[in-house]
Amino acid sequence: MRKSFVAGNWKMATTTAQAKALAGSLLDGITSVEGVDVAVIPPFLAIPAVVDLLRGSTIAVGAQDVYFEKSGAFTGEISCEMLIEAGCGFALVGHSERRHILGETDPLVRKKLDALLAAGMDAILCVGETIEEREAGSTEARLETQVRSGLEGVTLEQARRVTVAYEPVWAIGTGKTATASQAQEAHRFIRGLLAGLFDEETAGKMRIQYGGSVKPENAGELMTQPDIDGALVGGASLKPASFLGIVQAA
Ligand code: 13P
Repeated sequence: MRKSFVAGNWKMATTTAQAKALAGSLLDGITSVEGVDVAVIPPFLAIPAVVDLLRGSTIAVGAQDVYFEKSGAFTGEISCEMLIEAGCGFALVGHSERRHILGETDPLVRKKLDALLAAGMDAILCVGETIEEREAGSTEARLETQVRSGLEGVTLEQARRVTVAYEPVWAIGTGKTATASQAQEAHRFIRGLLAGLFDEETAGKMRIQYGGSVKPENAGELMTQPDIDGALVGGASLKPASFLGIVQAA
């Protein structure tokens, strides 16, 4: 599969003005890079401005989260329809910060994924173990629970619209990247789970991104691993030169 999808998850770290400036720099820099798909994931309020700025370019725009209900009395939430209207084709679900800081559970993550797929959108399902789970030898058990509860029963057609992002919680925003072999091992395990849930061919076509302190210095080695199909980048995506360095390394 072509190594391709590199996403810039800007988290709650940009105002709309900053997001526009960042998107503008990426647009200028990305024209020289071929053979990769690039997307940015601005905060909700910045989405319309970034979509406007990137219109006609190859850079896609996604959302960091979504709510599963179609509409109604859910103060503060954002629906798939609202995201589509704003120009988003995909959203993350189950990001580690939402699971661990905001208390999202596997069943809630699943409802969000189902809502995206039903709305015709793509989804990035984020999974990953904590340091305690890794040290206790339960990384695979954790990943299996998250992948199964996130994807069991999803149809083959829908599965092709899902990317799984392996983001070990201990590597996110900490500067501690998983080694290329630790990441590859987890990705191979996830690929096996996908083959069991769907079939080998579908599993081979589903992207599995790595996320957690990806930088230009470590992106090259991570991206040469056979089961690492791209990166979900947080901190480094806030610096255009770093982000472009990662894309180039891919
Ligand atoms: P960092 O790249 O800052 O570790 O964040 C990773 C992440 O959470 C991407 O979604």
